Amino acid sequence: MNEKKTVLFTLTGEGDDVKIGEAGRIIREGGLVAFPTETVYGLGGSAYFPGAAAKIYAAKGRPSDNPLIVHVSDPREAEDFAVVPDAYRRLAERFMPGPLTVVLEKKDVIDRSVTGGLDTVAVRCPDHPAARALIKAAGCPIAAPSANRSGSPSPTCAAHVMADLSGRIDAVIDGGECRIGVESTVISLDGDGGCTVLRPGGVTAEMLARAVGAVRVAGAVTDPALCGDKPLSPGMKYKHYSPKATVVAFDGTDGEMIDAANSDPRESVGVITSDKNAGALRRALLSVGEDSEDAFCHAFFSLLRRADEEGLGVVYVRLPPKTGKYLALYNRLIRASGGKITKAKES
Ligand code: TXA
Ligand code: MG
Repeated sequence: MNEKKTVLFTLTGEGDDVKIGEAGRIIREGGLVAFPTETVYGLGGSAYFPGAAAKIYAAKGRPSDNPLIVHVSDPREAEDFAVVPDAYRRLAERFMPGPLTVVLEKKDVIDRSVTGGLDTVAVRCPDHPAARALIKAAGCPIAAPSANRSGSPSPTCAAHVMADLSGRIDAVIDGGECRIGVESTVISLDGDGGCTVLRPGGVTAEMLARAVGAVRVAGAVTDPALCGDKPLSPGMKYKHYSPKATVVAFDGTDGEMIDAANSDPRESVGVITSDKNAGALRRALLSVGEDSEDAFCHAFFSLLRRADEEGLGVVYVRLPPKTGKYLALYNRLIRASGGKITKAKES
């Protein structure tokens, strides 16, 4: 790929309209711009411009059968390119803008290069003012995967994007750190009015159940071995979120994990955990801050990147419960560990 100069638009509160207007023009004309959302940074291209999706796949080094999410500035814009059932409207009213992506039947205006060859399209309305302003400025829906090189942790600040994609894309909008830190919840709608969670995120299965009734969680969310050759969502089958360090997904108590890390014979060992465990730990602490699901989700990807920056060879993370937003962390963690779970007594 030819190196190009990647322009950085830093949002400061002054002249931001002009910067976002310029970024929108780049997208409208077929270029690529990375932008902040409330979940992670996205790598955006026009969902309508021929060849833009191919450029996104090339910049990321992503397999082109893994479909892109199409971002809108208002949930009603989905009608332009997707068949919209009532269930979508109900979910949109309750959860959009926000970290929810809904898979719908696509219309012809969306090329199959955007949807990885599928007849469905994933729609999301991000809860970030700069993201929605960019979509409006571009004047078209924006196809955007996470703005990382394929396989590496999703970016939660502009520096992560620059580290992965500088020289490969036209511009990056720096809007600071992402609030949530893990990608959106992806669901498909089922015939009975319920839905299936294909990828867990900030809109939890419990929240969805209160809104739509029957909520299933795809087996591959907690067990990558279950995804099979024809997964419900192509993203399920790829190894993901892997830093260079070996990630140990530890099934045990905090105390058991700290003991295991302290006595691990390997040299450069780190532990992603909360501040409350700092005192007992004799290895590198990668702290999420307070002990909460929001804090773990917010910091997880960023700390995987930090582990590599600090040259750590092994990183321990305790497997969280499979409930609430912790389900998103559970899913990202087992994928970062390559599907391997280390039980307390084996370690
Ligand atoms: O929070 C997010 O969703 C971020 C920000 C940038 O919006 N985007 C993101 O995109 O995480 P990406 O491409 O990294 O992940 C999209 C996921 C993949 O697992 C993909 O397989 C799934 O959504 N997906 C997209 N279109 C689909 C479709 N038509 N059917 C099933 N799954 C689909
Ligand atoms: Mg991604």
